[in-house]
Amino acid sequence: MRTTLWIWICIGVLYGGAMDSSEAKIELGHRLFYDADLSINGTMSCATCHEQKNAFTDGNIAHPGALGHEGKRNVPGLSNIGLFKNLTWANPYVSGLAQQALMPISGTNPIEMGMSGYEDEIAKRLRQNECYQKLFALAFGEEEESINLNNVTQALESFQKTLISNDSLYDQKIKNHQPLPTKEAQEGEKLFFGAAKCNLCHTAPLFSDDDFHHVQLHKLPIDNKTEDNGLFEATGKVKDRGFFRTPSLRNAALTAPYWHDGSAKTLIEAIQQHNLTINHKLSEKEMQKIVAFIQTLNDNSFVTNPKFGKPSNDCTH
Ligand code: HEC
Ligand code: HEC
Repeated sequence: MRTTLWIWICIGVLYGGAMDSSEAKIELGHRLFYDADLSINGTMSCATCHEQKNAFTDGNIAHPGALGHEGKRNVPGLSNIGLFKNLTWANPYVSGLAQQALMPISGTNPIEMGMSGYEDEIAKRLRQNECYQKLFALAFGEEEESINLNNVTQALESFQKTLISNDSLYDQKIKNHQPLPTKEAQEGEKLFFGAAKCNLCHTAPLFSDDDFHHVQLHKLPIDNKTEDNGLFEATGKVKDRGFFRTPSLRNAALTAPYWHDGSAKTLIEAIQQHNLTINHKLSEKEMQKIVAFIQTLNDNSFVTNPKFGKPSNDCTH
């Protein structure tokens, strides 16, 4: 008991007493998010596909895994990801960010970080790193066994919960009770919440209702890829075929290409691809206005905040 206390005091002194266990989890998760040791051949971290400058997506239609296997779906951004009940494009059974993190690490459909069957290797690698020894001890207790895959995913969850984006022009408008700066964006806002009814699914403030819908216009698979049946693939229920979760539109101007299959190159194309009977047919001009509104959901501080960027090499946090 006494030794334990002393170790804690020493760690406390080392860190200036500044970091409690929840802060340590966040810092740990931050480092792990950027650590390619989480992939089989040390070539791929979470941040390889989830890049801060793109609001944590990667700019590609899909991203191949560490061993070159083809990616299956478009990489979603991670704005406010801790506030969603459902995660991923079309799987209602993913129960939280810790569980989700296992999908890229050990998933096989598709193979991304390639650690399936090699999960123990992760703890072995991390145990050799002094910075991780300190941070795992602070976050989960000082036993060597606290460096394990379960705690890796818990820490990744803690870090991802800090990925809050709420300082866009739109947020500033809400806070300060002022209209948006341009007339085009103001008119776009009116359409978005009015005649075009985008907010039915892209519901403020997350700009997603966190629910699944079938909105695809045409059914031609691109690039000879096999058809993606969306929600049906997880539930096996025929009625779920073609359903996908509404993506958030926060920072969407930074997350091209769009849709679960990356088939829309621009925001205009992404809007045109909806088969919406509920809205009146939008003119090109109206769509441009809506795009101007979506651009006001960009949050510059989110994509430049060093707390979310590549961590420094020294372990000073
Ligand atoms: C090879 C690229 C790749 C890597 C590496 C990767 N991801 Fe992803 N990520 C994706 C794709 C693609 C999806 C969407 C999967 C789907 O819906 O089927 C996704 C989805 C997610 C989601 C759900 C987002 C949402 O909107 O629901 C989270 C959270 C996430 N990834 C976190 C991580 C973490 C944490 C890591 C590292 C352990 C990681 N990702 C590594 C490509 C990647
Ligand atoms: C009935 C629900 C619903 C309505 C209404 C709706 N959307 Fe969507 N939207 C979705 C879904 C679901 C997707 C994802 C579809 C997919 O990938 O298969 C999507 C995708 C998008 C995307 C691509 C985002 C990304 O990250 O890939 C944009 C942009 C978008 N919608 C904008 C709009 C706008 C603007 C309106 C109003 C004109 C609108 N949506 C109306 C459900 C809806």
